[in-house]
Amino acid sequence: MITRSTLNVAPEVWISAIGFDESLDSGLDELAVEFLTDTEQASFRDLRHLHRRREWLCARIAGKEAAQEWWAREGTRISASEVTISSLESGAPVITPAGLSISLAHTSGLAVAAVAAGPVGIDVERADRAMHALQRSLSSAEQGDCERHGRSTLEVLMAKESAGKALGIGLAGNPRRFSAEFDGSDWWIQTEHNAARPLRVRIRNHGMHLIAICLQ
Ligand SMILES: CC(C)(COP(=O)(O)OP(=O)(O)OC[C@H]1O[C@@H](n2cnc3c(N)ncnc32)[C@H](O)[C@@H]1OP(=O)(O)O)[C@@H](O)C(=O)NCCC(=O)NCCS
Repeated sequence: MITRSTLNVAPEVWISAIGFDESLDSGLDELAVEFLTDTEQASFRDLRHLHRRREWLCARIAGKEAAQEWWAREGTRISASEVTISSLESGAPVITPAGLSISLAHTSGLAVAAVAAGPVGIDVERADRAMHALQRSLSSAEQGDCERHGRSTLEVLMAKESAGKALGIGLAGNPRRFSAEFDGSDWWIQTEHNAARPLRVRIRNHGMHLIAICLQ
């Protein structure tokens, strides 16, 4: 079984979330046929690990439903099978019909998708994810911001990841190439790719998960 929810962060982005658990596995193939195009089904069948298939599929369902909601708001009804989500060589997702940007993220129990007219990035993590390993990837300024504002180190990494997705580069293998600053409400992320224009990232709680949204 899947559970659907949405997250209201800003009018210029639509966010859909799909909750799931391992009980989904027995019906995974049927769900794939129901929601995926033939090309997407071929990609789905190529995935080897069950947890990856589960998360990948739920992220596509979330992405298609977010796009359907977006277009419905504009007065156009479109079915899931008319929406295709493919991946660039970089891993960044692309949606057709063209004209919308999409970002996907998935973790145990939740897959999320954001669509917007301009670049967008999303990340999701369980709020209770262990953080000692992450601590080392933060600069002293970032650690200071976390302490001063009572924010978690997980937020810093998520803010960087969502900004990297909005830029189409992901984390580029090194979170230290991004710097994060907290303004009391949101995170601002800077890299060599957007040196003149830091990207704003909002973090929201969603049940047991945290979701980061970057809108360019
Ligand atoms: C993109 C990245 C941040 C994803 O992080 P993750 O924690 O593994 O996974 P998430 O669930 O948060 O996000 C996965 C989704 O990000 C999206 N994504 C992948 N690469 C992307 C990119 N370059 N730009 C935007 N989005 C991207 C994909 O839609 C992917 O889901 P899918 O594989 O089901 O299509 C990470 O893989 C990354 O930095 N990749 C860049 C290449 C790299 O540096 N590799 C070395 C690993 S550190």
